[in-house]
Amino acid sequence: MNTIRNAALAPEGRMKIDWVKKHMPVLSSLAEELGRTKPFAGLKVAICLHLEAKTAYMAQVIRDCGAEVAITGSNPLSTQDDVAAALAVDGLTVHAWYGATPQEYEEHLSRTMECKPHLLIDDGGDLVTLLHSRYRHLLEGVRGGAEETTTGLNRLRAMADEGQLQIPMMAVNDAYCKYLFDNRHGTGQSVWDGIMRATNLVVAGKTVVVLGYGWCGKGVALRARGLGARVVVCEVNPVRALEAVMDGNTCLPSLEAAGLGDIFVTVTGCRDVLGREHFLRMKEGAILANAGHFDVEISKEDLAALATHKGLARRNVEAYNIKGKNIYLLAEGRLVNLAAADGHPAEIMDLSFALQVEALLYLNDNYGRLPAAVLALPPSIDEKVAKRKLQALNVRIDLLSQAQESYLGAWNAE
Ligand code: ADE
Repeated sequence: MNTIRNAALAPEGRMKIDWVKKHMPVLSSLAEELGRTKPFAGLKVAICLHLEAKTAYMAQVIRDCGAEVAITGSNPLSTQDDVAAALAVDGLTVHAWYGATPQEYEEHLSRTMECKPHLLIDDGGDLVTLLHSRYRHLLEGVRGGAEETTTGLNRLRAMADEGQLQIPMMAVNDAYCKYLFDNRHGTGQSVWDGIMRATNLVVAGKTVVVLGYGWCGKGVALRARGLGARVVVCEVNPVRALEAVMDGNTCLPSLEAAGLGDIFVTVTGCRDVLGREHFLRMKEGAILANAGHFDVEISKEDLAALATHKGLARRNVEAYNIKGKNIYLLAEGRLVNLAAADGHPAEIMDLSFALQVEALLYLNDNYGRLPAAVLALPPSIDEKVAKRKLQALNVRIDLLSQAQESYLGAWNAE
């Protein structure tokens, strides 16, 4: 039994999946190769990811490699009901719908876990947390999992530090072919896609404040500069702050930036990054968007407490009236790129999801030999994925000669 809104939406969802598939050649090449040998035959895979078209295509590929797949969304506002319907009609088990309440979200995760998975893919750590709390009795059957995000890895590492992590977890987020492209270029583009779709306003000439200069923040700031904005970065890490300055941004404490910004984007992974004191200093019309995994970066409690009234200004734009000024919160403070747009471009998720499939293969091939820990993907997987992407892009590169290889491998060569 599936938990979806409306199976009749499947044709629209199928069209979305067909479109992204054309732009995900690395995943398609894996599907072709592994579809013949069916390495996941007899295995159940539980997936908790933003349930949109790219995710759906990866789920189908894993199914076509022999697995039984159960899937849920990793955020109540990123699930696309037509895509969920297309997957369900295609025979996958789906428990997700757009706008799930916190209780429904939990229930969808639980039902997904009830497939008794051998392998997991998680985005943000909710599925793995559930496995280690209410579903501990299933731990024994789980061969391992793969985590997509920085936030999820932070949670997993906290679990591991406390001796709580019971399964091997592959750190997909930390592979080069993930964060260099997905976190930087994917977030950089999709966040602006979300902000522009939500507001239909210009970015050029505005002051954009980016809070957090990790790989995602770097992408958001880079694209803001490209769109003609003045960019102010707020950081707590001195090395990243220095990097932001040398990349051409202004760096300021957030309370000073609060009065300057036209658009604020939080990308820190931390909570209460923008709160009461910031809101009081903001200009009329300030726009607030979050690109971090959880909706805790912009304090909605402080916004609500300060506002004399609140109302919908436009789809995905809520106006909070604070001391006569309007402050606009996009997508309820949830991931703006997924709640107000379609997530990262297909060509980018091609890399991330090829890594996910490779991570599952690695876990399965090494079943019984891996520790219960957060594990790096072997560099050979990164190289394989990069090579296939270059091939798909028709980009050729040089090879080292024998003499050059010897030179690089010797400590006393001249
Ligand atoms: N599409 C599916 N998963 C995504 C993610 N983690 N970020 C952006 N777009 C996505």
